[in-house]
Amino acid sequence: MLIRNFSLHSMTRVAVMAAALAVTAFGAENELLPDGDGKTEVAQNCATCHDLGKAVSVRQDRAGWGATLLKMVGFGMKSSDEELRTMLAYLETHFQPEELPPVNVNTARAIELESRLTLKRSEASAILKYRAAHGKFESIDDLLKVPGIDAAKIQDKRDWITF
Ligand code: HEC
Repeated sequence: MLIRNFSLHSMTRVAVMAAALAVTAFGAENELLPDGDGKTEVAQNCATCHDLGKAVSVRQDRAGWGATLLKMVGFGMKSSDEELRTMLAYLETHFQPEELPPVNVNTARAIELESRLTLKRSEASAILKYRAAHGKFESIDDLLKVPGIDAAKIQDKRDWITF
């Protein structure tokens, strides 16, 4: 009797644990993968050797995802050509290279101006100084009034600049 109780108890525990694991896997899939064609294939194919989180830990273009898929096939991933095509389309759509928003030159800190617009430290601090003295910039022309600024560089990066 004691023994029967014990085994029933442990079977219940196993069932509860299995259910908990299933919930975790399901939760991860929905948290990590946006809805769309190919979600199911990615969830099924990409979580067998490592977790799904690693599979979608990178942001890259079609060529990059193609190379990753080939690499995984090399590691032994068994997917049909159809699945590979579907997964490639899904991954390139939902995990594209990250685009940073443009730099707002009226609020940016010196470090952002340097790194995002490849300005020299002296140029970045000249922008801050000019901004403090004259108020907000309203256009690229305004920005070009900053003493010592490299006009060609600013023109080159104008798509990355906002006011
Ligand atoms: C047959 C096993 C296997 C499968 C299935 C698999 N991978 Fe991998 N994956 C690996 C191994 C091995 C590594 C390298 C070691 C590591 O980082 O765990 C790796 C690493 C990665 C990395 C880290 C960066 C890199 O290139 O090393 C990414 C991203 C990745 N896999 C994506 C995916 C995607 C997307 C899928 C589903 C289409 C997938 N993996 C399916 C075995 C696999």
